[in-house]
Amino acid sequence: MTTTAATTQRLTVELAERSYDILVGPGLVARAGAQIAPLMRRHQAVVVTDEIVAPHYLAALEASLDAAGISHHAIVLPPGEATKDLAHFGRLIDDILACGIERGTMLVALGGGVVGDITGFAAATVLRGIDFVQIPTTLLAQVDSSVGGKTAINTPTGKNLVGAFYQPRLVLIDTDTLATLPRRELGAGYAETVKYGLIADPDFFAWLDAENRAVYELDTTALTRAVMTSCRMKARIVAADERETGDERALLNFGHTFGHALEAETGFSDALLHGEAVALGMALAFDFAARLGLVDAAEARRVRDHLDAAELPTDLGDVGLSGKDADRLIAHMGKDKKVRDGRITLILPRRIGEVFVMRDAPAEDLHAFLAAHA
Ligand SMILES: NC(=O)c1ccc[n+]([C@@H]2O[C@H](COP(=O)([O-])OP(=O)(O)OC[C@H]3O[C@@H](n4cnc5c(N)ncnc54)[C@H](O)[C@@H]3O)[C@@H](O)[C@H]2O)c1
Ligand SMILES: [Zn+2]
Repeated sequence: MTTTAATTQRLTVELAERSYDILVGPGLVARAGAQIAPLMRRHQAVVVTDEIVAPHYLAALEASLDAAGISHHAIVLPPGEATKDLAHFGRLIDDILACGIERGTMLVALGGGVVGDITGFAAATVLRGIDFVQIPTTLLAQVDSSVGGKTAINTPTGKNLVGAFYQPRLVLIDTDTLATLPRRELGAGYAETVKYGLIADPDFFAWLDAENRAVYELDTTALTRAVMTSCRMKARIVAADERETGDERALLNFGHTFGHALEAETGFSDALLHGEAVALGMALAFDFAARLGLVDAAEARRVRDHLDAAELPTDLGDVGLSGKDADRLIAHMGKDKKVRDGRITLILPRRIGEVFVMRDAPAEDLHAFLAAHA
């Protein structure tokens, strides 16, 4: 695998004293030590990863830390969403502290969104906050969870209910790591990539429509463009609204109110990955908006066709649900954290590349729309 710095692209998340760079390109794991060293107050790192990612990428990362004169420890967590709980968090904190860390120690999250979220929250809390670097290895983590500073773990009450806004010092996105990612996980991350086109960038959607095969075939140039475009948009939105107080960052939740209801109804299980739920949620949002006369039916069809071609679910039937489940889906939507005063807030499209926040979505229309699904 040849790697040259020239193929690496850089962008900055502008957050005043919390600003940080995102590097995107091939071969970045092998160059991580050199990228991280200048940010360190103390040449000590604790790498947190999972049992699936470690055999693929941990040795290369450790070699690069060695080459940069950085001492390091590794903590390998079990893979999967179940790791993002209080029990694993408690053990992780103990293990990190047992490494003899100081305020200047750097945490490094090497893995998908699970590793990134729990490691970020650990960084936010140990010794009242130490620096951390994200090295995301799933497409979902590369285009979404590693950027923006949301860190969290789950509790029995719900997902991501305990956490902090805590920005990393650097995000290293090595597109080569996607080579080992299962096809289904790639598709789930791809749905979040499409989301950026649908919410604010019609040209990006058109490019994805034409070039998605190159993305799936992991063509480095296409991947770098898809990830950069996604991160650039997320970085811009995060810079404008770091703590999600206004509507702008909420637009990133396009497809997610439907999506969370679908995940809840399928028990947050492997039956439906988050990105798959978002794909179906985006298709439903377009169809519902078309029903309300807010968006052209042809646009809704184009979105559905695109997601279908990507082998993502676009119908309730694709995930074993039907119109008979409308009541329960709406009940879940009523519990979504974007609900204020019991009213359902939806992000709906006006066209491909433009969405808006609809507060007080017409519940009867929503029910009739979902119930009409065979
Ligand atoms: N913080 C945020 O803003 C934010 C945004 C979106 C999602 N999330 C969170 O992200 C999590 C989901 O992230 P995810 O989809 O990356 O899941 P994940 O971290 O569970 O990774 C999916 C699977 O892929 C494996 N894997 C990771 N990289 C691999 C690679 N390169 N090759 C082979 N296998 C690999 C993992 O071990 C895991 O089994 C959820 O907990 C979600 O809440 C957070
Ligand atoms: Zn999402």
